Amino acid sequence: MSTPQHIAIIMDGNGRWAKERGMERSSGHEAGVETVHRITEAASQMGVRYLTLYAFSTENWNRPESEVAALMSLIISSMEEELFMRNNVRLRLIGDIDRLPEAVRKSILGTVERTAGNTGLTVIIALSYSSKWELTEAMRAIAKRVQAGELLPETISEATIGEALNTAEYPDPELLIRTGGEVRLSNFLLWQTAYSELYFCDTYWPDFQSSDLQAAIDYYNRKERRFGLTSEQVTTTAQ
Ligand code: FPP
Repeated sequence: MSTPQHIAIIMDGNGRWAKERGMERSSGHEAGVETVHRITEAASQMGVRYLTLYAFSTENWNRPESEVAALMSLIISSMEEELFMRNNVRLRLIGDIDRLPEAVRKSILGTVERTAGNTGLTVIIALSYSSKWELTEAMRAIAKRVQAGELLPETISEATIGEALNTAEYPDPELLIRTGGEVRLSNFLLWQTAYSELYFCDTYWPDFQSSDLQAAIDYYNRKERRFGLTSEQVTTTAQ
């Protein structure tokens, strides 16, 4: 049995969880924050090195203004430094953070700075993030380097692109989990999940427990990761 070093999660189902209880959508997000804390602690104890959480997508800016505002203030209040410190967790961000309200940006960057020396689990929050935005930014940066004569088009490799992404310093996730029953990637880590195992479950994010995380890891362990090779090749290399 092995624990993936990087797990990415699309935390879906907060709204439906709330609706089924006759509550406001924002109550679902509040309950979702509890799950973020629970799963951060569980992943840390299981020895996961990187946990990337899709908290707010580029497309989420189009939600009703009141829901966006509720999510923003929730994101600030949920950055529990005590939890991060107790678990030696380092907080990082990916996404178009210049688009965030200044108070949100300052508050989160403060936590990023104060947890920078922690050496356990790295929690990467994807905020105002979408994969197509990230890839577009990377293409622009690479084009500028070509224009400046620093780079020849024929020397552009997969590594050049990987290094231009927000995730340059992290390994690709071996496992991607999506809660809430939908089976799609919703513009999340499209480049980085090229060979990830994908685990979809019906459980709404507020109901997701550490046992559900363990079930996803067990699923990952049952998979043979072939990276385009044959089963025989993988077995021979592993021996
Ligand atoms: C999807 O549920 C979830 C979100 C858009 C936001 C996720 C945010 C949190 C869990 C809170 C803050 C996060 C952190 C990292 C502190 P949905 O509203 O799309 O649910 P639905 O599909 O049932 O409507």
